[in-house]
Parts: sequence; C-alpha cells; structure tokens
Amino acid sequence: MSENLFTEQKTPYPDGKGRYGDFGGRFVPETLFVALEELEQVFRSAREDKEFQKTFQSYARDYIGRPTPLYFAQRLTEYLGGAQIYFKREDLAHTGAHKINNALGQCLLTKRMGKTRVIAETGAGQHGVATASAAALLGLECCIYMGTEDMERQRLNVFRMRLLGAQVVGVDAGSKTLKDAINEALRDWSLNVKNTHYVLGTVHGPHPFPWICREFQKIIGIEARQQILEHAGKLPNLLVACVGGGSNSIGLFYEFLNDKDIEMVGVEAGGKAIAPGMHAARFAGGSFGMLHGAQSYVLQDEFGQIGTTHSISAGLDYASVGPEHAWLYSSGRVKYTYAMDDEALNAFQLCARLEGIIPALESSHAIAYVLKEAPRRPQDHIILVNLSGRGDKDVEHASKFIKLDT
Ligand SMILES: Cc1ncc(COP(=O)(O)O)c(C=O)c1O
Repeated sequence: MSENLFTEQKTPYPDGKGRYGDFGGRFVPETLFVALEELEQVFRSAREDKEFQKTFQSYARDYIGRPTPLYFAQRLTEYLGGAQIYFKREDLAHTGAHKINNALGQCLLTKRMGKTRVIAETGAGQHGVATASAAALLGLECCIYMGTEDMERQRLNVFRMRLLGAQVVGVDAGSKTLKDAINEALRDWSLNVKNTHYVLGTVHGPHPFPWICREFQKIIGIEARQQILEHAGKLPNLLVACVGGGSNSIGLFYEFLNDKDIEMVGVEAGGKAIAPGMHAARFAGGSFGMLHGAQSYVLQDEFGQIGTTHSISAGLDYASVGPEHAWLYSSGRVKYTYAMDDEALNAFQLCARLEGIIPALESSHAIAYVLKEAPRRPQDHIILVNLSGRGDKDVEHASKFIKLDT
C-alpha cells in the first residue's frame, strides 16, 4: 500500500474553507468551532506523520482484515448475461461493513488529541458497532445515539454495541432516525467537548468531517484499483455504490475520479415512491440547503424545513448527502440514481441465492441498479460494485417483507 495514503489528493477539494465548490463549509455554534479547528489541526499533523500512517495501516491489516477481497460474481454475471460483475468485499471487513475504516481512524485521532470519550450517531447500527469496537480496542469510553425507529429495525446491532461496552441512547424525537440521532450527538458534543470526540460516521457534517472520513475510506478504491488490474488486467468501465451520507461510495470513487473514461453511479434510496416523505433520494427530490453544519442537497420544503424520509434500509434513510457528492453531482462527474425498496429486497434475495452472499440492504440498492444495467452492456465491460456491508443485521427486518416458499 502507498506510503502517502492521506497526502495524495485527486481534486483541489476541500479548499481552505472546507468547501467543495458551492457545497460544504462549517456552520456550527461557537462552542464547536474550537473543537473543529483542533480536529483539523490534529488531522493535518497526523496525515503527515509516518508513525500515524503506519499505525493506521497495521490496524487496517491486522484488526480490520484489509485488504478486503475483490470477488468475481460469476453466477450473477452469467445470470444477467452482460457485463462482468465484481464485488469489493467491504462486507468482509471486521464488524461487517466499511464503517470500521473511518471509526478506527477517528478513534486513533481521539487518542492523539488526548481525549478519553467518543460519541457517535448511527442509523443501520454499523457505524455504532464500528465505533464501539474501535473504542473498546483503544480503551475509550463510548456512547452511541440512535433513533428509536432504527433501534427497532436493527435490534441485533443494538445488542452488539452494548456487548462491546457502549452505552446506547435511544432518540425519540422527530422521525426517530439518523437525522435525530445526529442532533442529539451534536448536543452532547457541545456540552462535553473537552474530553469527548464526536466520531461522525459519514462524509457529512461541518468541515473537516467530510474530508477526514473520505481520507479514511479512500483505502477502498486504492485497493480495488490494484486488485482489478491484477484480476482482469484492466480498469473497470463502471463503478457502483449505494449512497447514504456517502462514505462507502466516495471511498470507492475517489481513487478513480481522474480516470475520465470510468463511469460512476451512486444509488440512493427511492423508498416507496419519489414523493415527499416516501424516499431518501436527495438528488431526485432535494434542493440546495443546509443540514448538520454543511451546505449540500437536502430534502426540505419551501421554507427550508427538513423533510421526513423513508427507506427500507436504515443506513440510507437520511435527508441530506455529503457535500462532496453534491459537487460531483453538479459537475456531472458522478451520476446519481435510486433503487426502490422492493428492488433492493429483490437484489438482496437474488444475491443470496446466486452468490451465497447476503448483502446489507444498503448495498442491495447498488446491486439493484447493477441488475438493470449489466444486461445492457457488452460482456467485455467490467462493473465494480461496492458491497458496503453484510446483511446479517437485516435478516430479521427483511423477513417481515419476504415470503419464502420453503
Ligand atoms: C452497510 C452500509 N452500507 C452503506 C451505508 C450508508 O452510509 P454511507 O453512504 O456513508 O456509506 C451504511 C450506513 O449505515 C451501512 O451500514
């Protein structure tokens, strides 16, 4: 792996003000401003520090299990009869999703800042489990905020977090999902900022969070690039990933952004319908706005009130999207589409039956798009899809919607 994992930049963003073109920035109360400045300084020094890079990379290898494999999905490819489909197996990372890359990185930064406590928000529970695991590993106190609706959908992960020694605080406000959990985490952070770091779980929030999270997640694309060259002897034609806040997708895409011929598609949650309150497809139903300290695309009404959202998958059920994606969308470099709940459920089952892999419902949105796109493409095309997590956490929830014959 490259020595300068964090210092090699593919774009000029974020700029000095934490912006990605018209998006991003740092819109927070005074109390948090100092903490964000401190975090930025600590990350700037860590990314230049060979010892820090070595520590991150040795945990990545020995604790997370990196590099995660790149897998040729032969049966799915044959079934669809078009492009060759490869999975980047982030579902095989320790704790079952890509979230661990960022959680571990930020917990290391917490130690570097001399802080003893971490807090985090979680939707699907994967970021909560990842943060609780990294906190246990590094001896940090840990508290996780989670909407009560998500706690119900992801009961297994709530138990896992508690088993790992974290306190899980249910948030009963608003839509009882991720947005509300983030509000509570930000409140806790303003009160306890002296000893506490907020491990934000995706490429959203005030600068420097979108940047830091991207830097820890871009390892996915760095590995995938090397692996596809080894497996197939050429670069992929199309990259596909699901987009909640946007961390697994930016993690995959970033390394390829300057390869002009490589297409990239981010798949949002189309939910039940593209109508207010029934989906979480920010690029299909959102507009320029602000949420959680950053300007981006937001689902909102004409008065700027944040809209309610729906997705079968808790990890995609969020009213905004990371500012770097808003920039990639407006520049046309990445295309964004959506998959509906029932399409994701279909992909979930098909992947299980054909490949013996139960994907996370989030990742199933990306696979749902591939099911439509692969047959339209020639057999020498390569589609590389990020399998952001495994579906164990979703089995109980999905069983309410899937009727099996046997
Ligand atoms: C497995 C999995 N994939 C994807 C996501 C979506 O997040 P992001 O868009 O930041 O990758 C989540 C969020 O919880 C998740 O658990």
